[in-house]
Amino acid sequence: MISSPIWNMFEPANDFPLLKEVQNVDVSIIGGGITGISTAYFLKKAGLRVAVLEAGKIGMGTTGHSTGNLYLIIAELLSSLDSKYDEEIIKKVLKSRASALGTIEKIIQEKELDCDFSHQPMYLFSKDKADKIEKEISISSKLGISNAEVANDNFPFEAKKILKYPEQAQFNPFLYVTQLAHKIVSKECQIFQDSKVEEINKLDSGSYNLKTEQGSVFSRYLVHATHTPKGIDLKFDTTLGPYREYALAAKLNNDNYPSGIFWEYSGKEKFSFRSYKRNGQRYVMAVGKSYKVGQSQNNSELLESLESYLKEKFSVKEITHFWGGQNYKPADLLPSIGRKSEGENEFIATGFSTDGLIYGSLAGKIITDLITGNKNEFEEVFNPLRVNPVKSAKSFTKETLNVAKEFFKDHILGSSTEELQKLKIGEGKVMEIEGKKLAISRGDDESYRVVSANCTHLGCIVHWNDLEKSWDCPCHGSRFQPSGEVIEGPAMDDLFNVSDNNEQIIA
Ligand code: FES
Repeated sequence: MISSPIWNMFEPANDFPLLKEVQNVDVSIIGGGITGISTAYFLKKAGLRVAVLEAGKIGMGTTGHSTGNLYLIIAELLSSLDSKYDEEIIKKVLKSRASALGTIEKIIQEKELDCDFSHQPMYLFSKDKADKIEKEISISSKLGISNAEVANDNFPFEAKKILKYPEQAQFNPFLYVTQLAHKIVSKECQIFQDSKVEEINKLDSGSYNLKTEQGSVFSRYLVHATHTPKGIDLKFDTTLGPYREYALAAKLNNDNYPSGIFWEYSGKEKFSFRSYKRNGQRYVMAVGKSYKVGQSQNNSELLESLESYLKEKFSVKEITHFWGGQNYKPADLLPSIGRKSEGENEFIATGFSTDGLIYGSLAGKIITDLITGNKNEFEEVFNPLRVNPVKSAKSFTKETLNVAKEFFKDHILGSSTEELQKLKIGEGKVMEIEGKKLAISRGDDESYRVVSANCTHLGCIVHWNDLEKSWDCPCHGSRFQPSGEVIEGPAMDDLFNVSDNNEQIIA
């Protein structure tokens, strides 16, 4: 089983350059996933000069770790929106998502992208919670989603109640983003990868200057297309909950690959699955339980339960891939897309939950309209400066208390240095040595990697992820390599690497 998403196995690595010089553009975009590349596409069309800076590889961050499903409803379901918002807002959310799906389809045709796009039905079903599905059926009908229907005939899985949304869609998100990036890259639209932004400076002139290790960009406008804003931002640090879930891809012993998008709500957890075919190779993929980053005691168990689910449903020949995907759930259920603060030329797109392929594309259009001064009918609904105290109150309190609990629990509890010798290959543990909290892990070559256990974002103590071999922060979801480099999340700086700076500690 390979630890990698399935999406990038069909094309050679993309070859965008590293930023090595000084660039002057109208808009700089941090992040080269679906949000960043869609924004670059619209801005270029509007005649603006753009530079995209991606820390890793284009399309291989959150976009390349998603499921590739495109649907009109939201992952938290319409009933959750219905409990917080009136019909007018919910209809606007649905309309915005339909328009983004239409945009994706139009771009695929216009740019002739070969990314396995197809229309597919989407099914919500349950063996034991008919009432949950019935609620969605009734809300769908109340909202006038005309094509939602109850399905029963020939449904291939055990179910008491099934809701079908025809004409949803699927694609390969990595191929969509990388091919679109290749089609738009030009003198006016420059795209760089392996170019991590290390400094963001606001100049007296009101412009922005971004610094990478080897280059620098000056721009009038700045767009954060990084899933969650980089650095410290109290509003988003307290209202976005970082979650993670695992996905598996498998080959079957027979031809019973399912057609469509399936979300099952039987038992305690939600599972989802779909199939994927390219170059004659077929796979079924499943996604399992969502958990709060850095707060799972045993990540391997999460993958095992997903594997059991897949094997119950299908005759699995071989599990070929596994990967993890991260998402940020907003307290009021709606993403934040637009101006970061009043009067500033800095824009964000965050809080997409697991619905980011559609919201990322939508964000590209909304942010472009805000920059070019065009009215966008959806800008108010997703305005980051909106105040939704009642809608957010319960979740806000929950997320903030959770962060506080993790912070204090970890700063008070200590560990013993004797445990260092007990650490096995592939394990990691936070230990207190000479009064310092250290995050210590043991690599395949038996060597110890020692980094500071204090997350560089706001100082919470990181936790070991036994499945992905990473240090994950339970507060706002930053993740780090065993050697301390930032993988994702709001943290901009790596964990301090004690191994490289003090050999005595690991002697
Ligand atoms: Fe905020 Fe770690 S991600 S303290």
